[in-house]
Amino acid sequence: MAESRPTPDTQPTQAPPQIVPLGRQHLAGFHRAVDRVAREGRYLAMLEAPPFARTRRLVLDSLKDGGVHLVALANDEVVGWCDLRLKAAVTLRHSAILGMGVVAEHRHRGLGRRLLLETLARARSLRRIELIVRADNTAAIALYRSCGFEVEGTCRSYLRHDGVEFDALLMARLEPLPGV
Ligand SMILES: CC(C)(COP(=O)(O)OP(=O)(O)OC[C@H]1O[C@@H](n2cnc3c(N)ncnc32)[C@H](O)[C@@H]1OP(=O)(O)O)[C@@H](O)C(=O)NCCC(=O)NCCS
Repeated sequence: MAESRPTPDTQPTQAPPQIVPLGRQHLAGFHRAVDRVAREGRYLAMLEAPPFARTRRLVLDSLKDGGVHLVALANDEVVGWCDLRLKAAVTLRHSAILGMGVVAEHRHRGLGRRLLLETLARARSLRRIELIVRADNTAAIALYRSCGFEVEGTCRSYLRHDGVEFDALLMARLEPLPGV
């Protein structure tokens, strides 16, 4: 007997990606996801991920230093990330730099917002979180604004790609001081 095709109503629904702290077992998948988003050439300063060994070292050093690194997993594959890397100088230890990305086929389904909110929830002790975003990255800017980030300035001609220059925005979010 011919197998009946599932109707849209009976098709299995995919569970939403799970968000977990990045562990050593996720490093290769994290590197692949960063590389995919970087190669789109529109969103990140890098146009490909750094070599795996360097990525691994950067992440492990950041984790040792108290950084927050989350990944989103769909069928055990890393499909998104959000991280906060602490600054080194002693006078800047209250602030961190945010980086994030979601691979193309998982965008516009709420995953970026989930990743960002979960990361911020784990960083309540940090007074200042900042990032630099290309000025034409409207999706990311809208997400950041809706989560409390404000534009602090424009970095003119910040990026140059294929001879074209792009401005970028410095955005930051301040955690209220206790008791204020
Ligand atoms: C920015 C990014 C992480 C958002 O992830 P996402 O999973 O697509 O975002 P979500 O579905 O959670 O949407 C969150 C918000 O982003 C904004 N947004 C998402 N897609 C948008 C679009 N196409 N246009 C305008 N705003 C958009 C909206 O404010 C949206 O909130 P809403 O759904 O309540 O309207 C994702 O687009 C991405 O990875 N982009 C490439 C990498 C990148 O830009 N990284 C940041 C570098 S600074």
